[in-house]
Amino acid sequence: MEQKKFYITTPIYYPSDKLHIGHTYCTVATDAMARYKRMTGCDVLFLTGTDEHGQKIEDKAKEAGVTPQEFVDNIVKGEGGILDLWKLMDISNDRFIRTTDAYHVEAVQKIFKKMYEKGDIYKGKYVGKYCKPCESFWTESQLVDGKCPDCGREVYDAEEEAYFFRLSKYADKVQKLLEETDFLEPRSRVNEMVNNFIKPGLEDLCVSRTSFTWGIPVDFDPGHVVYVWVDALFNYTTALGFLNSQYDDYEKYWPADVHFVGKEIVRFHSIIWPAMLMSMEMPLPKKVFGHGWLLLDGGKMSKSKGNVVDPYILAEKFGVDALRFFLLRTFPFGSDGNFSNEALIQTINVDLANDLGNLLSRTVSMVGKYFDGTLPTARQEDALDHELVEMASTLRSRYEEQMEHFAFQNALAEVFKVIARANKYIDENAPWVLAKDMEANGVRLATVMYNLLETLRICAVLLTPFMPKSSAEILRQIGACEACSTWESVAHYGSLRADVTVVRGDNLFPRIDMAKELEALEQLAEEAKKKSLPALEVEPLLEEKVDFETFCKSDFRAVKVKACEPVKKSNKLLKFTLDDGTGVDRQILSGIAMWYQPEELVGKTLVAIVNLPPRKMMGQESNGMLISAVHTEKGEERLNLLMIDDKIPAGAKMC
Ligand code: MSP
Repeated sequence: MEQKKFYITTPIYYPSDKLHIGHTYCTVATDAMARYKRMTGCDVLFLTGTDEHGQKIEDKAKEAGVTPQEFVDNIVKGEGGILDLWKLMDISNDRFIRTTDAYHVEAVQKIFKKMYEKGDIYKGKYVGKYCKPCESFWTESQLVDGKCPDCGREVYDAEEEAYFFRLSKYADKVQKLLEETDFLEPRSRVNEMVNNFIKPGLEDLCVSRTSFTWGIPVDFDPGHVVYVWVDALFNYTTALGFLNSQYDDYEKYWPADVHFVGKEIVRFHSIIWPAMLMSMEMPLPKKVFGHGWLLLDGGKMSKSKGNVVDPYILAEKFGVDALRFFLLRTFPFGSDGNFSNEALIQTINVDLANDLGNLLSRTVSMVGKYFDGTLPTARQEDALDHELVEMASTLRSRYEEQMEHFAFQNALAEVFKVIARANKYIDENAPWVLAKDMEANGVRLATVMYNLLETLRICAVLLTPFMPKSSAEILRQIGACEACSTWESVAHYGSLRADVTVVRGDNLFPRIDMAKELEALEQLAEEAKKKSLPALEVEPLLEEKVDFETFCKSDFRAVKVKACEPVKKSNKLLKFTLDDGTGVDRQILSGIAMWYQPEELVGKTLVAIVNLPPRKMMGQESNGMLISAVHTEKGEERLNLLMIDDKIPAGAKMC
């Protein structure tokens, strides 16, 4: 029988910032699907990559003082970059495309020309609104409260000569595709696309830009670069070798079986993408699945909000597999889900440490203790076995049903129902009681142990797409051979050797101290937030003018510090005794205890305004104010007293 092929993709990521847990979610889901399909025997091609052109990247590179290519190279290939992240997260992509790769550039130029020659791309004038961060053009009617409908940010007027793609020509065909086939899932996204975008009238799409240069040049019209979304969407085909000689398996893998994409880019994948493929007379992908977002406190994660969650930190703290598992176990793939550290720790503690981890360690240690690690082959079945054996024997088909619908959460729920049942089976059979009389109960005890090991085997195989390393370790500990670690083998209860030998190993999922870890994570988040804050901030200059006479009314003088001490019961105030040149000591209180030790200020020459009305603080009088320079560093206020040359005599007037 011919091996079934399965081509699956993630969106290609913008290398404009480091990726966060939301991006990781999408890639981990795609990876789990790809691993599942490989396990079931498909010839899988799993593609991911980076979408490297566009004005946003050009602007960011300029800000960083490097070329756009250097900028993206660093985020993609640099330390802690996108490639490192996917390696860390155990992502098993077969190919990685960068839209700056020469073969892709060349192919996109050919594609653009082909659509132009066909008459589906024509030259016109673009007048409209543009959202820079989203690289999207919008018409007035698409804006929400005058802002970008995707990200809610400001849009700008844009007018320029440009090429347009005849999207309107394909409106009816695309609507039919969405309404009459299973092209787009979940179904709820179909209504959104049809009602919000197609029914109000699909306008032709502006597909070239002249206001920046970091893009694929339109080779027959210098000065124009191809709109990033045209460039980006065709990655799914150029990465197979379409119109280029880098690869040679377009015929084999295209059309894609499924594109996994986040909900905000469903519009591009379910309207623009099929329309362009229709224009190119290419087969359409079989499915686009629009998954939900991981939210933080109900809102979007973004660098600009400073609320992004760093997958490196979580993977390091809790383990890659635990993080992968959490993402797919907790949130239904088609809907939004609220990410929280509590939920992560809770899932690890309940599902992994308590249910799965305990089942494994109890089973392996009991086989060790009662049978010296190797089960005898004789069996004695009992009615108590039926439910567990039935559930474990039929698990694969229930799991498969869910996986085929990309319902990761439900597939995992099926596995964990069986794990829970197995834990209950231990309590029902009380092996420690059976073990008291091995002569009478040894055979029964071996049967109980075998059922537990067999259940663990089936669950571990089915958990492999989600937790590749941990599942392999479970299979190793329960003594499963290669042949009984396969997809085929989990359809057959009893595949494990009757005289199996277990191997004790590390505790795979240690319990996490919730309060302690939450506090540590909060601290790390605080530090990360500080790091992302601007290095230096000063207050903007005041717009309002002050006339010279008013200014002259302020009496600034040089003052010398004769004594300085903290004000009792105040952790802010220092009390200064100052020589202001009048021969009478002046007392000023200043809220600078956070920044100075009193003794270091004695003898210094400072500047004070001396004609402010007296003011009482903590019961003491202050006659004037010392002048300081204030700025903010990494979100923290810094203050420096104005210190002047000691040669300046006390009382000298500043003017
Ligand atoms: N470059 C485009 C995709 C082009 S595909 C031809 C892009 N890149 S992106 O880096 O901004 O986003 C990549 C994917 O990450 C999108 O599917 C997006 O939905 C997903 N996510 C970004 N933040 C996310 C969450 N907080 N939660 C879930 N997915 C999120 O769009």
